[in-house]
This record gives sequence, C-alpha cells and structure tokens, in this order.
Amino acid sequence: MEPIIVAKDLKKFYRTTNIRIKALDGVDIEILPGEVCAIVGTSGSGKSTLLSLLAGLEPPTAGKIFIKKRAIHKMTESELVDFRLQNIGFVFQSFNLMGTMNAVENVALPLMFKGISRGTRTQAAKKLLGKMGLKQHFYNKPAELSGGQQQRVSIARAIITKPEIIFADEPTGNLDSHTSVQIMDIMTNVARQRNATLVFVTHDPEKALYADKIIHIIDGKVDRIDINEQKLEGNI
Ligand SMILES: Nc1ncnc2c1ncn2[C@@H]1O[C@H](COP(=O)(O)OP(=O)(O)OP(=O)(O)O)[C@@H](O)[C@H]1O
Ligand SMILES: [Mg+2]
Repeated sequence: MEPIIVAKDLKKFYRTTNIRIKALDGVDIEILPGEVCAIVGTSGSGKSTLLSLLAGLEPPTAGKIFIKKRAIHKMTESELVDFRLQNIGFVFQSFNLMGTMNAVENVALPLMFKGISRGTRTQAAKKLLGKMGLKQHFYNKPAELSGGQQQRVSIARAIITKPEIIFADEPTGNLDSHTSVQIMDIMTNVARQRNATLVFVTHDPEKALYADKIIHIIDGKVDRIDINEQKLEGNI
C-alpha cells in the first residue's frame, strides 16, 4: 500500500534572540491510508511541531512533506487553506471553538467555508452532534459545555467535511481520565469506521495503545517506530 503521508528529512528550526532551537532535526516517516498513528515523546521533543508541519499549519525549515502525493512544502498559503479544507480535520488540545457560536454553528463552520447552504450544513451538524450524544446541547456555547462535551464538538467540527486525514494534538490533554477514554474511543472509532487516517499526539503511553503504529520522538528525531499488535478498541 502507498503511504498517504510522507515526511522526508523534515527540519524545523526556531530562532529566538540569539539561539537556534532545533524543534525537528531530520524526521522521516510514512503513514498508510486508514492507519491510526500515535506520536509520543517528552515535553519539548517536537511532537506539536511535527503535527503542525504535517497538517500544513507551519512551513518546514527544510525537508519535504507529501500528502496524497501532493507536495505540501511547496504550496502557497491559499493552496494550503484549500487543501486542508478538502482533506484534513484538526483537533486541538484546547478545543479552539468559536466562543460566540453555539455547538451547531461551530460544527457547521467548515461546511460554510465549502460553500454549502445554511439549511444543509445545519442539518448535517445536528445529525453528527446527535450521534456524539450532544442532542441536548445543540444551542449551547462552548462556555456552557464541559471539557469533554467541547472536545466532542471539536471532533465533530474536524470530521464534518469527511476528511481523509484527522490530526489531533493532545486531544485529551485537558480532560480527566474517564472523559479521556471516552474521547479516545470516539476519535479512534470514527477514524476506523470511515477508514480515515488518524495521527494523534500524546504523552500518555496508555493512549498510544489505541494506535496501529507508535512513533517515538526524542529531541526532534524519530527514536523508534513501534507496531502495536494489541491495539485498544473503543467501545462507543
Ligand atoms: N513558535 C516557537 N518559537 C520558538 N520555539 C518554539 C516554537 N514552537 C516550539 N518551539 C520549541 O521547539 C521545541 C519543540 O516544541 P513542541 O511544541 O513541538 O514540543 P512538544 O513535544 O509538543 O511538547 P509538549 O509535550 O510540551 O506539548 C521546544 O523546545 C519548543 O520550545
Ligand atoms: Mg505539544
């Protein structure tokens, strides 16, 4: 099978006043279509940097990124915006929902950017939120929702466009352990049911067990890649 995501000798350096930080220092990875992949490593090892480069949110200093054989590192900002809208969903640790919008409006937003009519997008958002157990919360704003509910809204927003690839940066980092398990179950089930590729960052070895493949990052480099034979299956 051809990989859907390829990174070649990927580097990202940040320059502060007088020092250069090597956040990523030559990363090579390949992720297959439909694979669930965890990126693990200690704080500051470069996990978020890797994810945001793969998702085209930040340009690399050097190296190449191909998604569906398209050269992400060569795209202009407007090409990237369009590519992300068509292919990628992103889930953030801090949810990043629009505070002035209710749950339905937040989830429907990517469909608005795709030019889908208000009626159709509202209906699609309600259907998805209903499936995620949020029927009672369609019209609540983020501040009126618990952390776990907000993360379900943000997962719904990430998948409403049926992206082939879902990226999630510490999606359970702000949640208690019980809610974390629910969110991991939902996210991995959605990805597996849709045959989507899911790449998530975690510093929790237990969460990594949801993945088919576990990429260990140390000091901006791939330390090793484990194939997980006994993956956890979500039960929601
Ligand atoms: N915008 C930035 N400017 C300068 N340095 C940065 C920037 N973003 C990240 N870094 C540095 O790059 C390195 C990797 O950061 P990154 O956020 O990728 O780590 P991480 O593995 O996600 O850590 P954590 O588990 O704490 O989220 C760190 O040394 C960090 O301080
Ligand atoms: Mg991080």
